[in-house]
Amino acid sequence: MEKRGSFSNVRGFILASVGSAVGLGSIWRFPYLVGDNGGAVFVAAYLCMVLLVGIPVLLAELAIGRSSQSNVYGAFRKLAPGSKFPWHWAGGLAIITCVFILAFYTVVSAWVTGYMFEAIRGTFSKLETPAQAAKLFESLTASPRWVLPFQVLFFAATALIVAHGVKKGIERSCEILMPILGVLLLGLAIWGALLPGGSEAFTYLFKPNSQLTTRGLAEALGQAFFNLSIGMGVMITYGSYLKKEENLLRASISIVVFDTLVSFLSAIAIFGLLFSMGGKPVGGSDLVFKVLPVFFPRMWGGQFFAVLFFGLLALTALAATISLLEVPVSYLVDERKWTRKKAAWTTAAASFLFLGIPCALSPGPLANFTWFFRQTFFDFLMFVSSNILLSVIALATTLFVGVAWGLRPARKAITEGSSAAAAVPAVVWKLLIWVVCPALIVLTLVAAATQYIQP
Ligand code: TRP
Repeated sequence: MEKRGSFSNVRGFILASVGSAVGLGSIWRFPYLVGDNGGAVFVAAYLCMVLLVGIPVLLAELAIGRSSQSNVYGAFRKLAPGSKFPWHWAGGLAIITCVFILAFYTVVSAWVTGYMFEAIRGTFSKLETPAQAAKLFESLTASPRWVLPFQVLFFAATALIVAHGVKKGIERSCEILMPILGVLLLGLAIWGALLPGGSEAFTYLFKPNSQLTTRGLAEALGQAFFNLSIGMGVMITYGSYLKKEENLLRASISIVVFDTLVSFLSAIAIFGLLFSMGGKPVGGSDLVFKVLPVFFPRMWGGQFFAVLFFGLLALTALAATISLLEVPVSYLVDERKWTRKKAAWTTAAASFLFLGIPCALSPGPLANFTWFFRQTFFDFLMFVSSNILLSVIALATTLFVGVAWGLRPARKAITEGSSAAAAVPAVVWKLLIWVVCPALIVLTLVAAATQYIQP
């Protein structure tokens, strides 16, 4: 049997989990959801969700992982051995959800990688307006010959790294990339904010002037989960590679702070640049792809920075896909006694063949194939995974902690090694895990479900 992996120290763990959290979710998804949902109200709703639900669930997941030292499926069984309720089904669902997310996430990763190559070829130098960039985006992403090779490349890179295990593969690759991307984003944000008209981005992002829609509410929580990589066992799995004495509160706060910072920087950069070009606030999943390519050619060394930006974005996406693949792989290795190599390649191949290809073809050949609740397969899989499945699993996780594992042992696991966490009164944990988290999750689940029932 293969030995279980582990991180070399807490720094390696924080790097890997920040690497999992920071990705396309912060840089591509956050800005366009803000645009879709009217700016500052969405930002405010998102922040509330992160604080009230994100942090407690993140802590709960890490504690479950570290205490059980086991994969998602095994963890639920190990911590509540006598329970009649099949909690480990939530683990099973988490494993499937990871395979779903992997399928559409690699499509966007393929677009990003493709854009890096287009930047190298100098395609963007001809672009003058966001409308032209949007057209280019449409024609590129509609072409299977352009998307599929990059997607295959992405799946292969992910499987290769995961097959190499926790320390060598995951830790090392995150260590170098994160700081460079951070500096680059900071530069873009400052640039965007300083351009004439660019500072409007702050008003747009931080001064509410519209109402939150039902869909906006559901998406705020979905994005909080998606962005922090919670609600599907990634943090349970990563937590299980941690030693007992590490400080979970510190780890969670680092994850949340970095992730939120990156989301905000990229929203400031994108909207600052958009407003400086006289654009109106818009959403749509092509937002990043239609703003940045127009902008890069206008700046000094633009081509170099474009290549660097899309290249790094592809690499952070890789840190995220690694964490996604790690969940099913750790299950197959622990419970089914597969080798790491076989587990990684088989899962990646299955996710690509059965789900990844239809997602990749959604903007092009399958664009009219919308019998999934009037959405393309890509949009459907993304909405169901991030707004429904992540919430269901997170709900199961909080109920599991509150009911089956027990608040006392859970609190003990969370506060071990952290005096700050110990200082939070038990009643606050109780309120969060028993009332606030489940109530908000159920509310947003209902909100998400109504999106489908509407005629
Ligand atoms: N958090 C990543 C991002 O923002 C995506 C991601 C990686 C993810 N692992 C996850 C989302 C697990 C949900 C669950 O890009």
